[in-house]
Amino acid sequence: MVVTTQTEGRNNIDNMTQTTTRRVLLCFCSLTAVLSYAVAQEEDVGNNSCSSTSLMFKQFSTLLMEAARCAENITSQWNDSQTAVVINSLQTLTVLLQKHKKAACQEFEPKQCPAAVAQSKGGLVCVTVNKRRYCKPRCNEGYDFAFLRNSRLYEECSADTRFKWTTQYIGGNKLAVCNKSSRPIAGAKTAYFPKNQDCLTTKSYNDLEAKVIDEFISELKDIEGTKEYGCLVCG
Ligand SMILES: *[C@@H]1O[C@H](CO)[C@@H](O)[C@H](O)[C@H]1NC(C)=O
Ligand SMILES: *[C@@H]1O[C@H](CO)[C@@H](O)[C@H](O)[C@H]1NC(C)=O
Ligand SMILES: *[C@@H]1O[C@H](CO)[C@@H](O)[C@H](O)[C@H]1NC(C)=O
Ligand SMILES: *[C@@H]1O[C@H](CO)[C@@H](O)[C@H](O)[C@H]1NC(C)=O
Repeated sequence: MVVTTQTEGRNNIDNMTQTTTRRVLLCFCSLTAVLSYAVAQEEDVGNNSCSSTSLMFKQFSTLLMEAARCAENITSQWNDSQTAVVINSLQTLTVLLQKHKKAACQEFEPKQCPAAVAQSKGGLVCVTVNKRRYCKPRCNEGYDFAFLRNSRLYEECSADTRFKWTTQYIGGNKLAVCNKSSRPIAGAKTAYFPKNQDCLTTKSYNDLEAKVIDEFISELKDIEGTKEYGCLVCG
């Protein structure tokens, strides 16, 4: 149900979420539907554990999104040990997926540059121009940069920097830190993700991710050359 609304763009994301939620509530918040689907999946997984056919992304993500949106209806029906079973599996999965996610955006030129590490509560938008890698840190709404960087939109790694990242931190590949803050003041205006559209949400929708990359490309317009290897990595 998300697919049909994917092209509508960032301004519509609130609407989109509402519409989707309404539809999901109509179709799926009847507990039996979700649970019988879960049971069916469990049987499949049990017989054929970890094979690709039994863990197809679409079914899995659909089930998870529905469960998340129907959370109140579902959790009130689960007892403590059932809740623990679910939390335990989700935590294990989250740790593994986070590890996998951190490896994103690693295939780029110049190859001599280490991958920049995305800060938690935000992410990095990166683009290569003329064998120079540029990454712009962005914080989620409700967070702000630990160091003032109003006039410092991005960091660079290139032959000029001896293939090390420029950063306000000493050494390493950490480019920024996003700390909790009710008033974002330390960064440039475009260095924050909008409300209801944090890094992971942006990364979840191809068109939103493309917009963020395009915006950074337009901010690099004074640097001549083909813009390539554009990518967004979330912390
Ligand atoms: C919870 O499920 C019941 C039916 O089982 C449904 O009538 C109700 O609307 C659901 N609650 C929400 C918040 O969707
Ligand atoms: C999985 O195994 C159970 C019992 O071992 C069986 O009832 C069920 O039909 C099997 N499911 C599939 C998809 O093979
Ligand atoms: C929780 O529910 C499951 C399934 O109905 C049951 O097997 C289990 O004994 C219950 N656990 C507790 C602590 O009530
Ligand atoms: C930001 O958070 C980090 C660790 O979470 C902490 O060490 C640092 O002091 C914080 N900086 C500011 C300006 O709050």
